[in-house]
Amino acid sequence: MSKESVEVKEPSFQVDRLYTRVTQLDDGRSISIYQSEVGDVGCVVWDAAIVLAKFYEHIISYGSRQAKTSDQSVNSADVKAIQAVELLYEKIQSNRAIQAIELGSGTGYVGIIAAALGAQVTVTDLPEFVELMKHNVRKNNALILERNGRCDVSALVWGTQAKMKTDLILLSDCIYYEQALTPLVNSMVDLSKPDTIILCCHEERTTDNKPALQKQFFKEVAEHFSIVSVPVHLQHPTFSSEDIHINILLPKLEEVGHP
Ligand SMILES: C[S@@+](CC[C@H](N)C(=O)[O-])C[C@H]1O[C@@H](n2cnc3c(N)ncnc32)[C@H](O)[C@@H]1O
Repeated sequence: MSKESVEVKEPSFQVDRLYTRVTQLDDGRSISIYQSEVGDVGCVVWDAAIVLAKFYEHIISYGSRQAKTSDQSVNSADVKAIQAVELLYEKIQSNRAIQAIELGSGTGYVGIIAAALGAQVTVTDLPEFVELMKHNVRKNNALILERNGRCDVSALVWGTQAKMKTDLILLSDCIYYEQALTPLVNSMVDLSKPDTIILCCHEERTTDNKPALQKQFFKEVAEHFSIVSVPVHLQHPTFSSEDIHINILLPKLEEVGHP
């Protein structure tokens, strides 16, 4: 993770200005995430994070009710998505200690839920969010340990050299900043090996420069990764929305994986 010198702003965290968001996992357990009344956009849990975390949960319990690509009812346009979801499911099932990194994690929400389901996660964000993420990991650590998960916290500024590779990258609502677009894609490439899977969720925004940013992001992503859109009917049956998109990104082999 980044050891380079970066400007550290005030921590996005004041212990007396936090409020809690409690969400239920599908297995009945509760996750408590502390959000900050003051600070930048990463201080709260965004809707895309809820949709992505619920999709991850849905995948874990996918086995018995997964749609089969051979089913008559399956639309041919869905076949790629089902294959990508099956790939992800197999990866999680065959590797209970799957290594994951969440980029731009903010409160740590998505990564903490993946860890509470057994993944070995590092949640990352700008240095000023490290204390908030650590607070949330501490508050949920008992839940994480129940499933032999692990959640580390680290600063990772997009575009700074990451020395490690990971099995899974989690990304929610990070297509937001013009200057950080290419650095974000560079970090995704840096952290990827040929079999890395990236789960990228974003809320579609139609104001200001956001449509152009989203278009540019996926144009840059497409240079390195195949993009498979996950239709709403393959997402969590309750926590999904037409304007929140999940894409599974799979490395184009020649582009990544060089040590
Ligand atoms: C809209 S928030 C989303 C937070 C969280 N993923 C969620 O969905 O709840 C975008 C996040 O990206 C982080 N971020 C922005 N620029 C960054 C950069 N250059 N390097 C690392 N993180 C960055 C912000 O600090 C913030 O936490």
